[in-house]
Amino acid sequence: MKHLLKLMDLSREEILSVLNLADQLKYERKHGVSGDYLKGKKLGMIFQKSSTRTRVSFETGMYELGGYALFLSNRDLQIGRGEPVEDTARVLSRYLDGIMIRTFEQKEVEDLAKYGSIPVINGLTDYCHPCQVLADLMTIRERKGSFKGLRMCFIGDGNNMANSLMVGAIKTKMSFAIACPKGYEPNGELMQWAKREGEFLLTDNVEEAAKDADVLITDVWASMGQEEEKQKRSAIFKDYQINETLMKAAKKDAMVLHCLPAHRGEEITADVLEAHADEIFEEAENRLHAQKAVLCKLLK
Ligand code: CP
Ligand code: NVA
Repeated sequence: MKHLLKLMDLSREEILSVLNLADQLKYERKHGVSGDYLKGKKLGMIFQKSSTRTRVSFETGMYELGGYALFLSNRDLQIGRGEPVEDTARVLSRYLDGIMIRTFEQKEVEDLAKYGSIPVINGLTDYCHPCQVLADLMTIRERKGSFKGLRMCFIGDGNNMANSLMVGAIKTKMSFAIACPKGYEPNGELMQWAKREGEFLLTDNVEEAAKDADVLITDVWASMGQEEEKQKRSAIFKDYQINETLMKAAKKDAMVLHCLPAHRGEEITADVLEAHADEIFEEAENRLHAQKAVLCKLLK
């Protein structure tokens, strides 16, 4: 593993190995063991979009590992004024040991890795959100014991989260069902791959997707960068909500996950979110452990 650009680049074994290390790091932190595994290492964190969890978990994660994280906002960097990514990559590679980037285009992340000489981690693009899904997989395995025979269901937009969840579910041998409005499906190539490699269902019927699900997941109707479509999307997605009625279609002990931030009354009701708050906030905590594991794999 040289970078974390998208989950598709990782083998099933590599994913499981990250999750195992994440479990170990979580255990060590809980028991007061401080592992300076990345002593003196420096991570640059480029943000072209807002963030609470990604920023704070990467920054504290580097600190806990004995390293250092630099927050690099788009507003301050020359990249925000048009300096080419191939130049930025070569410059940053001479100062840092790794780069985490949150941006719009997946190509920008791939180019950073192509032109730079240090590991690059994708902290969210319009295409995917691999760090989040590693934390989601960690939370599922923690709660359910294993991935064997589990059914994952995603309700809503076929966006970055849906793309990464689909890949993560199929690579860990869960089945994956998505209910989304027509025209808002996940990436076509990834769906073809999912159909070939595992059990995959695409429907516009939420009940059908949620039937017998072990894990239900949703995400915002309008992602970062789609603010202008908010009103239009609210009408299109109004029936794509995790609520008490939909929960009845799932297994009795089904988990609910949400990458957050959540919009209560839109993609999830306040009741369901609060009933599953333990899982959802554990999921948020697991960002820290899963990313520390990724950092150790890449920067050590
Ligand atoms: N889930 C997630 O990535 O949260 P932030 O946007 O707050 O980083
Ligand atoms: N799909 C959301 C995820 C936020 C963590 C977005 O891209 O804004």
